[in-house]
Amino acid sequence: MFITFEGLDFCGKSTQVKLLEKYFTAKNKKVKIIREPGGTKISEKVRGILLDRNNLEMSPETELLLFTASRIQLVKEVIVPSIEKGDVVISDRFHHSSIAYQGFGRGIDLEFVETLQAFAIKGAQPDITFFLDVPVETVVERKAKKEHAELDRIEISKNNFYEKVREGYFYLMKKDKYIVKLDGTLSIEEIHKKIVSEIEKYLSSKGIK
Ligand code: TYD
Repeated sequence: MFITFEGLDFCGKSTQVKLLEKYFTAKNKKVKIIREPGGTKISEKVRGILLDRNNLEMSPETELLLFTASRIQLVKEVIVPSIEKGDVVISDRFHHSSIAYQGFGRGIDLEFVETLQAFAIKGAQPDITFFLDVPVETVVERKAKKEHAELDRIEISKNNFYEKVREGYFYLMKKDKYIVKLDGTLSIEEIHKKIVSEIEKYLSSKGIK
């Protein structure tokens, strides 16, 4: 099973990824957790370039190609082999992030971004994607709690950037029916329960216990 998490920065994805890992481990399932960008030797180096706050001159097109290059390496080296082994793969962000952030957020031609993502992931389409939706005001509030010095290059973006990214996720939800939207303002426990129930629903639809 291949599960991905998506949403705006500070939406709480990482916490939910950890809880879901515990859930599968308790069921004796082998789980492979990955985060994007990163997850392979090459992808981690690319992550460094992408998030470095000194790289302010980076063009949106360079940004798109670097995120995608990191993803191609991850699909080949980790995602496909882990799925073939029968592991549960959980990724903190995947191709939808490039469509929402670089397509909608940065305004790069959407058709091109989508074609590029199809090329990058090949057949490795997630079985379920959880989109943790939070309003931009929540992002702003949560961002304010973090020291400015700790924010990465993308996190220092303006609020209207996040509005566009969120619109991107709404667009994706209409297209990809395997995306499940969850209210990211609910409590951690409530969100986790909803995620587990969606997964159980999915597994029973496939006849898996
Ligand atoms: P990260 O620190 O992993 O943030 P988060 O915990 O919110 O996922 O940094 C990833 C940043 O990169 C985040 O701001 C989203 C952005 N991003 C894109 O713009 N495009 C992409 O394709 C991916 C994977 C991430």
